[in-house]
Amino acid sequence: MAIADLETIAKALVSDGKGILAADETPTTLTKRFDALKIQSTPDSRQAYREMFFTTPSIADSISGVIMQDETIHQRNSSGTPLAGLLTQQGVIPGIKVDNGAKPLAGSAGETVTEGLDGLRDRLKDYRQMGARFAKWRAVIRIGEGLPSWACVRANAHALARYAALCQEQNLTPIVEPEVLMDGSHTIERCEEVTGNVLQAVFDALFEQGVSLEGMLLKPNMIIAAKQCQQQASVEEVAGTTLRCLQRHVPPAVPGIVFLSGGQDHLASTMHLNAINQLDGAKPWKLSFSFGRALQDEALRNWQAKQENVHAGQLAFNHRAKCVRAAALGKYTKAMESGLAA
Ligand code: 13P
Repeated sequence: MAIADLETIAKALVSDGKGILAADETPTTLTKRFDALKIQSTPDSRQAYREMFFTTPSIADSISGVIMQDETIHQRNSSGTPLAGLLTQQGVIPGIKVDNGAKPLAGSAGETVTEGLDGLRDRLKDYRQMGARFAKWRAVIRIGEGLPSWACVRANAHALARYAALCQEQNLTPIVEPEVLMDGSHTIERCEEVTGNVLQAVFDALFEQGVSLEGMLLKPNMIIAAKQCQQQASVEEVAGTTLRCLQRHVPPAVPGIVFLSGGQDHLASTMHLNAINQLDGAKPWKLSFSFGRALQDEALRNWQAKQENVHAGQLAFNHRAKCVRAAALGKYTKAMESGLAA
């Protein structure tokens, strides 16, 4: 295992305010997003959609890496260039989602454990040969009446740590993603409590499995009130609570924390990231982004699966990526939204 390489990739992914585009929705998930806009979902339309992002001019100014999905890493453009190659041509690091999804946890009502460890070593070898330099595995934790159970938290933490150790063995930098969902009506306090417990369990498991913290990134949720909670927190409250939770549970050896957007819209995700980075206080890690929906939604709406709209989609993506990068540097302003400070 080459720790130096793992660390180099981890640091490159969070350098200079840059962050990651999570473009790793499964065909099923992407089909749901396409359906909502009456876009037909086929391997070809999904490829055209990914290509729009990957060929955005100057994407590398804001985006350090892209997480792909199995279908995408096997696809080629019309000139025969693998889509992963389109990224490396632009100086963007290709990554790959390697879990097989969250599956029902036996003996639990409504909880899941993420599967995909069987055969993972061989899949990692293949993906590395196809150009991937980092990987992602997402665990899903649901807050509810009496949930999450410790059985769920510990099973997911264990799987994340086994995945991360295998990635490092195969010279791929792991992104460790324990996502506490914002579904439900829980308060921000409850989100902080559960996220703290989950992070503690994850770092215990990483330690147990001998994972090098220098050679990984953490991808957590921000600490926010659930969607249906009557009392939504202010931007400052979200920022302060998120930083406090991370200070308590994430060792400083981890080079970077890349937040997921998790269903927050593009503006909330951008403002929260900016406010977190503007806070005083110990921030021993880079605090950046690995957004899916928050980076893609505006571009998807502009695109509408029409070739003549690719430019409009790329403009929207480029704009959002610039704003989010500014937020990762704590330099985002509302004026940027009207292009005034572009
Ligand atoms: P969202 O930013 O849309 O939550 O996606 C990030 C991600 O990769 C979830 O696994």
